[in-house]
Amino acid sequence: MRIGFIGLGIMGRPMAKNLVRAGFDVAVYNRSKPPRADLAAAGAHVVSSPADAARNADVVITIVTDSADVEDVCLGPSGVIEGAKQGTVVVDMSTISPEMTRRIGGLLADRGVGMLDAPVSGGEEGAVAGSLSIMVGGDARNLDRVRPALQALGKRIVHCGPLGAGQTVKLCNQIAVSLTNLAVCEALMFAQRSGVDPAKMLEAVSAGAGASWQMTNLGPRMLRRDFSPGFKIRLQQKDLRLALESAREHHLPLPGLALVHQLFASVESTGCGEEGTQALLKALEKLANVKVETGSPPTA
Ligand SMILES: NC(=O)c1ccc[n+]([C@@H]2O[C@H](COP(=O)([O-])OP(=O)(O)OC[C@H]3O[C@@H](n4cnc5c(N)ncnc54)[C@H](OP(=O)(O)O)[C@@H]3O)[C@@H](O)[C@H]2O)c1
Repeated sequence: MRIGFIGLGIMGRPMAKNLVRAGFDVAVYNRSKPPRADLAAAGAHVVSSPADAARNADVVITIVTDSADVEDVCLGPSGVIEGAKQGTVVVDMSTISPEMTRRIGGLLADRGVGMLDAPVSGGEEGAVAGSLSIMVGGDARNLDRVRPALQALGKRIVHCGPLGAGQTVKLCNQIAVSLTNLAVCEALMFAQRSGVDPAKMLEAVSAGAGASWQMTNLGPRMLRRDFSPGFKIRLQQKDLRLALESAREHHLPLPGLALVHQLFASVESTGCGEEGTQALLKALEKLANVKVETGSPPTA
């Protein structure tokens, strides 16, 4: 299977490497130059446009930033649509709006090109380990065709429904992820203000009913005050905006999500939008005038 791969960011770079490692013939495109050499060294062919990545490809994977970016690489000048042959399947693994997904899918279908939305969860760690959870929308026959490639990227692949359904499920994931992140921050704040070492709290609670991916992965980073991004606040805010817009269309109140969106906005307003989502802690610390600090170095 020949794969065109577009977008070598935090997620795309390790994902493309996993495809090369699994033995696929991979042509990669990235807008900026720095990640290209890394993929060339790993064994991918580097090409100079999304159209070139799509030429001769059976599957084209895109993982860029937002709705307009997927539109751009798929339908814009030198986009996938200019290079893809009939029967190619485009698999968009970015997190974007379900509505835009359906629009792009419709225009590709007019040219005989299939489309699946297949956003992912599991973070940079999951991308590196090839253990992502992949939420797929679109024609099940197209999913069967691309499944061997997706199996090199993720451990759980769930067909959620028609085109756009993967994005809807991904937004459900983002609602759960961001509210759990807030819960971890509040637990740390409570331990600190109550005079208990937050590292001890994490050690005990992360083996019990309060355990979560956020507690295990983000909690120790918060304690180390390591706010470098696995997932940037700017991207989290994009996803929360997509979820809130979609909820508004459905007349669905999501008060918890609206709150965490505002708290992230306060971190962004201090110039920290490029930091990881664990920097949500800073908003809580500012509200309470408390700094979370451990007496013993966090272990994870
Ligand atoms: N990071 C995570 O933990 C995570 C987890 C799940 C899902 N996601 C989703 O996965 C997607 C990528 O996230 P990421 O963390 O990998 O982001 P990132 O590190 O910011 O990388 C974004 C990539 O997209 C490219 N890009 C953006 N707009 C483009 C355009 N208009 N034309 C061509 N290339 C464009 C960028 O190219 P340049 O190098 O030229 O800027 C870069 O390679 C997002 O939709 C995000 O929401 C991320």
